[in-house]
Amino acid sequence: MMKERLDKYVSSQTALSRKEAQKAIKEKRVLLNGTVVRAADTKVDTECDSVSLDGQPLTYQEYVYYMMDKPGGVVSATKDSQERTVLDLLPPEWRRDGLFPAGRLDKDTTGLLLITDDGEFAHRMLSPKKHVQKRYIATLDREPDDSIVAAFEAGIVLGDGTVCKSGQAEILGGCRVAVVISEGKYHQVKRMFAALGYHVEALRRVRIGGLALDEGSKPGEVRVLTAEEAAAVFD
Ligand code: URA
Repeated sequence: MMKERLDKYVSSQTALSRKEAQKAIKEKRVLLNGTVVRAADTKVDTECDSVSLDGQPLTYQEYVYYMMDKPGGVVSATKDSQERTVLDLLPPEWRRDGLFPAGRLDKDTTGLLLITDDGEFAHRMLSPKKHVQKRYIATLDREPDDSIVAAFEAGIVLGDGTVCKSGQAEILGGCRVAVVISEGKYHQVKRMFAALGYHVEALRRVRIGGLALDEGSKPGEVRVLTAEEAAAVFD
C-alpha cells in the first residue's frame, strides 16, 4: 500500500502542476472516492482509493513509458525556448509531471525514443556498464565499401582520437547500412562514419536492447508501453 498526498497524486497522474492541482482541489473539481475533499494534503491510498478530476477517473500508474518514433526537426529535451521538443508531441492527456526523454537523438535523427518519468529505469538503460545495444539504419552519401564492416568490428577512432568500442555494421544495399553500437557518445554514429570518410545523410534508430520500433512505424507516432514491454531494453 502506498499513501500519497492528494495534490501530488493528481499532479503525478495528469498534466497539472502541483499548484494547479491544489487549485483544482479548492475548486471542488477533484473527488476522492466520490466525495469532494478540500484539503490538498489528504492522504490517498494509491491501490484502493479512487480519484477523479473534472468527472474523469484517474487510473493510478506509478510510472509511464511511451515509445515514440521521433520525427526529424524536434529536439530530445523537456524544454527549449526556441525549438519544439519531443514532449510537445505527446497527446495532452498523456502529459504528466516529471516526463523526460530517456536518452537523446539528434534533431535530424528519427526513430525509437523512450519517454518516461521513471528515473531509475532511464539511469539503468543509459548506464555505460549495462552495454545496452542500439541499432540504427544510416543512409550514407555514397555506397559503402565492404571494409567498413571490419572497421566497425575493430573499433573506430573518431576524429578527436576517441576510441569507440567494437560495433557491428551490416551493408543493406545501396547507401544503407545497419549499425549496432553499445555506447552513446555525442553524434557517435555520424562521427564514426565521418572517421571512415562518409557523410550520414539520414539516421534512424530502430532498436534499443531487445525493444524494437513497431513494424511499419512512421515518424511522429507514439504509443503507450507496459512496464514489461519497456523492460525489453535490458534483454
Ligand atoms: N548517433 C548520432 O550521430 N546521432 C544520433 O542521433 C544518435 C546516434
